Amino acid sequence: MKILVAGGAGYIGTHTCVELIQAKYDVVVVDNLSNSKYDAVKRVEKITNTKIKFYQADCCDYKAMEEIFIEEKFDGIIHFAGLKCVPESVKVPLSYYNNNINSTLVLLELARKYNVRNFVFSSSATVYGNPKTLPLIEDCPLSATNPYGRTKLFIEYILEDFYNCNKDFNIAILRYFNPIGAHPSGLIGEDPNGIPNNLVPYVTQVAINKLPYLKVNGNDYPTKDGTGIRDYIHVCDLARGHVLALNKLSTNCGLVIYNLGTGLGYSVLEIIEAFNKVVGHPIPYKIVERRPGDIAACYADPTKAYKEIGFKAIYNLDDMARDAWNWQKNNPNGYNQ
Ligand code: NAD
Ligand code: WQD
Repeated sequence: MKILVAGGAGYIGTHTCVELIQAKYDVVVVDNLSNSKYDAVKRVEKITNTKIKFYQADCCDYKAMEEIFIEEKFDGIIHFAGLKCVPESVKVPLSYYNNNINSTLVLLELARKYNVRNFVFSSSATVYGNPKTLPLIEDCPLSATNPYGRTKLFIEYILEDFYNCNKDFNIAILRYFNPIGAHPSGLIGEDPNGIPNNLVPYVTQVAINKLPYLKVNGNDYPTKDGTGIRDYIHVCDLARGHVLALNKLSTNCGLVIYNLGTGLGYSVLEIIEAFNKVVGHPIPYKIVERRPGDIAACYADPTKAYKEIGFKAIYNLDDMARDAWNWQKNNPNGYNQ
């Protein structure tokens, strides 16, 4: 089975390529490298000892993508190619709508034209908005609180509309919770541009003294210690979830939606504690104001993915901290060695 991994040079895409290759899928990566480096693909080749076919192309470019579809004759598509920074999406919403939605439309149009009937989409727990009940099941009400989240929500609706008139397609919408960590080899990991927005890359950059201290955004939430609670999932577990989803699509299951999380919620202070242990010294932090738009708590009910595709996270928080730190330590400047 030959899989188009759109956005496959990125954080989750590279880890998924490793899992796909280890599960004997043929992988073709298309990425415009707008938020990644080709070196990441070379490192996946090193981990897997496999040559990867790579095209530098924009998934919004119908003509360029059509040539690739004709050349490669895919059996399935995993669509990671999106912009993902929430604060940036508030500043340049049209870029987010343009990139995230058009890339999906182009891929779907070509999937239909060239009969590539298996499609996996990277959605996000952000489509649950500010949850009224926890843990989150797939049937919980959906909403979005920022342009990035709205692109994910709109794309979910687009996929449903598309499926309703293309019932021979199989589509998996995967709602990721908070992916962190890195491949245990230390060769691939998260490589944010500039100052990280997300908690874990910020923590690891404080740990190697690139940043002076962590700002903990709020300790007055109605949670166990007042700080925000999230469902952090090891990126290798998440990556394996894509292989399981593809296996499910091969049973002609139609459109399916799964949460990919662990079901456990950890607070910001618990994350700091886990990193203190692996780093070997305390991570300096200060409590500051809440981050606008943040929610108190968000964690998955992962039961549906377990029952239907056999997905269960195997890495725990200590593993996630160990692997995130190992990546940061070995690659202090990410892929820019
Ligand atoms: P990432 O930025 O590391 O990877 C995305 C990749 O897509 C990058 O390599 C980028 O260069 C590429 N890309 C973007 N637009 C493109 C286009 N038009 N054509 C070709 N390539 C393009 O991000 P990630 O963390 O690996 O996330 C992958 C997907 O998962 C994204 O769609 C993201 O919204 C979604 N997601 C991520 C998280 C998270 O916390 N990381 C959580 C939920 C959902
Ligand atoms: C986690 C917790 C913060 C940074 C975001 C997107 C979401 C999804 C994943 C793609 C929160 C706290 C953070 C810091 C802090 N992406 N924090 N100091 O906000 O749950 O999710 O990434 O789909 O859409 O919104 O993740 O890592 O930014 O924050 O105290 O410097 O850490 O308040 O409680 P979040 P995060």
